[in-house]
Amino acid sequence: MSAKENFIWGVATAAHQVEGAWLEDGKGLNIWDAYSHTPGKITNEDTSAVACDHYHRYEEDVDLISDLGVGGYRFSISWARILPDGKGAVNQKGIDFYNRLIDGLLAKGVTPFVTLYHWDLPLALQMEDDGWLSYRTAEAFARYAEVCFEAFGDRVKHWMTFNENWCTAVLGNGTGLFAPGRVSDDEPYIVAHNLLLAHGLAVKAYRDGHYEGQIGIANNCDFREPLTDSDEDRAAAQESLEFFYGWLTDPVVFGEYPAIMRERLGDRLPEFTPEQKQLLKGSADFLGLNHYTTHYASRTDQVENAVSSEDGNGGISDDQQVVLSSDSDWPVTSMGWFVVPWGFRKMLNWIHERYNGLPIYVTENGTALANNDVETAIDDTERAEFIQSYTNAMKEAIEEDGVDVRGYFCWTLMDNFEWTRGYDMRFGLIFCDFETLERTPKASYYAYREIIQSS
Ligand code: GAL
Repeated sequence: MSAKENFIWGVATAAHQVEGAWLEDGKGLNIWDAYSHTPGKITNEDTSAVACDHYHRYEEDVDLISDLGVGGYRFSISWARILPDGKGAVNQKGIDFYNRLIDGLLAKGVTPFVTLYHWDLPLALQMEDDGWLSYRTAEAFARYAEVCFEAFGDRVKHWMTFNENWCTAVLGNGTGLFAPGRVSDDEPYIVAHNLLLAHGLAVKAYRDGHYEGQIGIANNCDFREPLTDSDEDRAAAQESLEFFYGWLTDPVVFGEYPAIMRERLGDRLPEFTPEQKQLLKGSADFLGLNHYTTHYASRTDQVENAVSSEDGNGGISDDQQVVLSSDSDWPVTSMGWFVVPWGFRKMLNWIHERYNGLPIYVTENGTALANNDVETAIDDTERAEFIQSYTNAMKEAIEEDGVDVRGYFCWTLMDNFEWTRGYDMRFGLIFCDFETLERTPKASYYAYREIIQSS
């Protein structure tokens, strides 16, 4: 990679997916603890109570991260471990755990990239304040963020406020697939609004605190390629990208939602006050991108291989006025996601152009294979090929198109609690045996190391 000095290769996880220790050392409950213990919500009735037991095995995991040869490790902090009820007393044992993890990484020369919120809202805030439907949760988040900046800001120089606000808004409060499991056409827009304001408040606290470092946000987006060259299909693709990535990113760059959303949604879309616009404008030092797949976009429903709105863009699909489809030649992963590396390259270009060259980190990219026995699972050439083809596409975006990509974080270090899919979907470079908790690197672990070494 030509921008070698600037570029960081990494691997990612999230607290709730790996830590376990759900009732230990003073941790409070969060909405995913509750959701994963609700019958019928998770495949095989799996729960996240133990997950990979990373809370107790982090030293072994830091060694595995270091041996992988990555320069960065992206992980998230569990809000309820730091503030068990979301806003009251600080739990020192929670702070101690992340101190041990951060110091362990730094001792091995691995740079920590920290996400403050990866979906695990303290349950008390959901019950008392209606979670992200309330601005009070945004204020509570800002305080939690400040506690983290004070505790870890001397060593952590790369922060992300939120992971995939689209999922919190649409899957959590639109389709009801994710915690807290609410179903609504309008709540996603209210939730997203409060998440964005929470981001703004936290970034203000970070900047006012004069910490040395960068703070951004990790949003997800699938790419939308126009099905045909018609003006209608091109508009469908562009507008659906604005409804997806633009919705949660335009405000933190420009201080306003995309025009198409304001026009189409009218008063269903909350408005920012002039002060809030100021708070949000320019509030990201970098943009994270979590990217997994691509679809064709068109206006007409006369398409082959239509992708259902549930698999495509969830509860706000009617508002997007887009019909999604795929190509029968595209390989499909165990999650039902299409493997389209050129879509990744175009996605990176789209972000680069829309946000005037703001630095980008690929904060997640990877693939699932549903192999539950270790022998089959470690022979994962498919994953190795996926990573090779997607990192090649990224390389083209950097070297041929001039996109400013600063890093790539593979999802994920080891098989873990894959939300509603429980332990059934394995995304890891390392196999995790959920009975014995033994970790075994897969072929893709070595292949990714090779890609890093030869870059
Ligand atoms: C992302 C999410 C991760 C992980 C991944 C694979 O949406 O941030 O936590 O689960 O998808 O599904």
